[in-house]
Amino acid sequence: MPDIIGPLALDGPVASGKSSVGRTLANQLGWVFADTGLMYRAIGYLMVHHDIESNDSKYLLELTHKATIDIRHEKVMLNGENITAHIRSPKIANRASIAAESSEIRELLVEEQRKIAADTNGKIVMVGRDITSIVIPDAPFRFFLDASSSVRAKRRLTEQIEMNPNISISEVKKAIDNRDKRDMERDVSPLTLSKGTRLINTEHLSLNSVVDEIMRLIGNSKTS
Ligand code: DC
Repeated sequence: MPDIIGPLALDGPVASGKSSVGRTLANQLGWVFADTGLMYRAIGYLMVHHDIESNDSKYLLELTHKATIDIRHEKVMLNGENITAHIRSPKIANRASIAAESSEIRELLVEEQRKIAADTNGKIVMVGRDITSIVIPDAPFRFFLDASSSVRAKRRLTEQIEMNPNISISEVKKAIDNRDKRDMERDVSPLTLSKGTRLINTEHLSLNSVVDEIMRLIGNSKTS
């Protein structure tokens, strides 16, 4: 579909499949893929590294201001250091979600994300929590992926069991529920289904079926 111009914005809760779906869509379309969660995880990494627990720490804001974060090519470069291998842990994910409650931190990251999107002339799939509502709300294609937290916990367990063979499904589900609650109930830019964004329930769908459905929807769209 060479004449389609995005961006395509994709939001959803933890482990809703947005990164896998977004990456596959970007590959099929020949577009850039940007997973904005990686930027928040880079801030989560700074928090762990500097032993900062609260998001209203002045020092954290200072570090965020000075930080250069590059998420291109699905590598995460923080101040020139490749931290990709260190940001997948539940601890970093949790700190990322805490950092994401700060309006100052969000402002800095959203500005960067808008620049990334603008540089692609619409040929980008961007995924996160506020992409459809705040970062690029005028994107012609906007989707929200969802599924029950039990199904999402099963998916996440398969990814995490390699890193931690003793982890249980109830632990994973609890971590997902806590993080979703924080991401959906925060004062600034909470995860929400905004008007005009298409909800796709992925509960009983494979990755490929979700991708095919989105490709069909954007192919049939009047803006194509
Ligand atoms: O998508 P992820 O699990 O890697 O994201 C980590 C955290 O970052 C998530 O719990 C909330 C935050 N986040 C956000 O607030 N806004 C985004 N656009 C992306 C992530």
